[in-house]
Order: sequence, then structure tokens, then C-alpha cells
Amino acid sequence: MGGCCSRRYFEDEDGTIKYRLIYGRRYHNLSNSMYFVANDEEEAFRLSRYHEAIKEIWGGAFNSPVEEKLRQGAHVIDIGCGTGIWILDMAQQYPNSKFVGIDISPIQPTEGLPPNVKFVQYNVLDILPYEDSSFDLVHEKFMTVAFTEIQWKEQVIPEMIRLTRPGGWIEILEADPGTSEGTATKRLIKAVNDFMVSKGSNLTIGKEIPRILETTNAFSEIKNQHKIVNLGKKHGKSAEESLKFYVRGLSSVKGFIATSMNIMPEHYDALVETVPIEAEKYSTYFNQYRICAHKKN
Ligand SMILES: C[S@@+](CC[C@H](N)C(=O)[O-])C[C@H]1O[C@@H](n2cnc3c(N)ncnc32)[C@H](O)[C@@H]1O
Repeated sequence: MGGCCSRRYFEDEDGTIKYRLIYGRRYHNLSNSMYFVANDEEEAFRLSRYHEAIKEIWGGAFNSPVEEKLRQGAHVIDIGCGTGIWILDMAQQYPNSKFVGIDISPIQPTEGLPPNVKFVQYNVLDILPYEDSSFDLVHEKFMTVAFTEIQWKEQVIPEMIRLTRPGGWIEILEADPGTSEGTATKRLIKAVNDFMVSKGSNLTIGKEIPRILETTNAFSEIKNQHKIVNLGKKHGKSAEESLKFYVRGLSSVKGFIATSMNIMPEHYDALVETVPIEAEKYSTYFNQYRICAHKKN
């Protein structure tokens, strides 16, 4: 793998190339994942920082009716757990339950973990090493850019269903850009969308998920909630945090998107810096969808 001057590769002890450094951001180097968001400290900060705002927007860390089960003792898995912030929060609230977080990138804490938490590096596109029906709650959030549409339909959702026990719940939270007014925002969102389409991926898969779940015939109930999430501090604290999450997200894809736009990284940064100004001016928002699906008994 030859790299130009802006790309560097990190070698593991066994010589495997684990990460790529592109325009100063670190990315995984797995051949079986199209995920193109950074996995460095800056990205970890972005993900962890947004947790409280998500709880405020949605009125809690989850919406499925599993509170009682969690109190008594449930088995929960978080697919693509990121920094593990959701798991750690849930594990503290529900000490009788057991939580496992899986992710392709090792960006979770490794020390001082509560006894009811485990983080493991797995790719959900491989069959996960858990028995069928192992979990009462299978949770997944913000993985729109991780999969092609076919992978969502043929691998990710079937794997989530397989892992859920009859009577258990699947909970998914996804987002997509609602408006993208303003020259810079429009250009960046179009570039992300074009890049994803070129990979067979769908930036607005979140709104399709309820329909995909319905076609499986695995659920007795599917609850779909949609929220328009305003961006910018004039709309309050969670909107201010949402804007930061959105803008930092655009920075986190710089390595791939600046390259696909064929522009210099400095030019890309300048476009990203304009997004908050345009968001205030044009009242930019993004859509979030929280889907709770009850697996048939
Ligand atoms: C945008 S982050 C969201 C993290 C977390 N769910 C949250 O909401 O903070 C997406 C996560 O999915 C992980 N990921 C991407 N593709 C994956 C795959 N095929 N299997 C497991 N994890 C994956 C990434 O490494 C990243 O940590």
C-alpha cells in the first residue's frame, strides 16, 4: 500500500497495518469495513461529549420498555459502542445487568471497568461469537456511514435479530442531514453523500430502517420516533452540542472526503469552519430516528 506524503500507516507488533493517518486524522485499516470516520482522540471526544445531549433530546438513554428487566438483570449488547459511554452510563444505572460493547476500533477504556461491563473488538459484519437469543436488548447508534444498504439489510439487521431473545428489544438511533443550506454546508453534505453512494451506502438509511425491520417479519411491534434536531446555541444547550457534533463529524471524515472532493485539507477545513455560521443563518437541522422493535415471542 503506497501512501502519498499526507498518508502514514501504523504497524502493529506482528507487522499488521492497523491504522492510517490521513491529513492528521487516524482511521482504521480494516479491509472488511467501509467506515470512514476517524478513530482518534478527537473523534472519541466528539462521541463521548454528545452522550448527555442525546439523553436530553430523547428524554433518556433508551426508549424501549425494558427498565424493569434492566433493574432485575438483563443482558445488553451495544453494537459499534464507540468510546463505550452509553454502556458505562447504563452499567452504572443498572448494576444487576450485564453489558457488552463491541466495536472495530479499540477506543474504549481498558482499566477500572465496572464488573458488569465488557468491551470487545469485533466487526458486526462477521458473525458475532454469541449464541442466538443471547440478549434482552440489542442497541446500536450512529452507524449510518458504517455499512452499505445491502449490509444493513442482509447482515447487520439479521445479526441483531439473531442476537435478540424472543420478547427482547432492538433499539436503533440514526441520523441524517435535514437541511443543508449555505454554500459550504451544501458542498460538504453533497460530497459525503456522493462518496457514500459510490460505496453502495445510503446517508438516509435511518428513515428506511422501520420498513426494513417490518420486512423481516420478526417483530410484534415497531415504534419509530423522528425528531428534528436544531443546530446552534440559539435553540438551547442540546442544539449547541448537536452543532458541535455535526461540525466535528465533518472534520472526522476529512481524510476521505477532502480526497474525494479533490481539494487541499486546508480548503476542506475552511469549508467546515463556515458550517456553524451557515447553520445559524439558515437554521440548519438534522433528523434523528429512534426505532424500538419488539421481537416476537
Ligand atoms: C459514529 S460512531 C458511534 C459510536 C457510538 N455508538 C455512539 O453513539 O457514541 C460509530 C462506531 O461504529 C464503529 N464501527 C464501524 N463499523 C463497524 C463494524 N463493522 N463493526 C463494529 N463496529 C463498527 C466505529 O468504530 C465507531 O466507533
